[in-house]
Amino acid sequence: MEVVIRSTPDEVASTVADIVEHYVRGGPTTLGLATGSSPLGTYRELVRRHRHDGLDFSSARAFLLDEYVGLPKDHEQSYSSVIRSEFVDRVNIDPDRVDYLDGQAEDLAREAARYDAAIAAAGGVDVQLLGIGTNGHLGFNEPGSALTSRTRVKTLTEQTRLDNARFFGRVDDVPRHVLTQGLGTIGEAGHLVLVAAGEGKADVVAAAVEGPLTAFCPASVIQLHRHTTVVLDEAAAHHLA
Ligand code: F6R
Repeated sequence: MEVVIRSTPDEVASTVADIVEHYVRGGPTTLGLATGSSPLGTYRELVRRHRHDGLDFSSARAFLLDEYVGLPKDHEQSYSSVIRSEFVDRVNIDPDRVDYLDGQAEDLAREAARYDAAIAAAGGVDVQLLGIGTNGHLGFNEPGSALTSRTRVKTLTEQTRLDNARFFGRVDDVPRHVLTQGLGTIGEAGHLVLVAAGEGKADVVAAAVEGPLTAFCPASVIQLHRHTTVVLDEAAAHHLA
């Protein structure tokens, strides 16, 4: 595992954008996209590179990491809306080649199975962007998630609902259930890139990077992966040995 510590949020975003750019310039590639606040600077930087440096996403495709259950697709906090407005609608990736989990599917188990099959049919994800929850979740694999899990429905912990209340205004509006790629699904991506910033992530980053491999800190599964890059600001790196 490679840990890169940068001084400013812009440097963090630029380092992660460099990694994504490497794959995009290398030929047809499949991106794994996370939402939440951590990768937003990276998406802004990729949009900037598209507009100013001609970074061309026309041969890329993408899969989203997770989605709330029950939110309409056009709800401003659905992850499909967020990724469209922050990234997909601002670069020249073909929108038909961006796949989302349908949190309103009638049969959520079938939707989860469809998604794993679609990722496999695309040849897998080449580079997967990831944030980390304050409780160690990866995607929405909450503590206790099996390290080999596949895409499925999960129930959010109160901690995660409280953490995400900032996006919804009030905690009662945060959905209780989600669809998320499993830890096993995520682990099949060729390159995992985990981004974290701020003192509030320092403990959980240390647990994921240096602590025991345990389902109680799902993000610790990155220790098993053959190619992981963790990109941190100094505050988030503070509790690393
Ligand atoms: C988002 C996701 C979550 C977030 C995590 C951190 O697609 O899967 O695991 O990455 O909750 O969220 P932020 O970045 O908002 O601190």
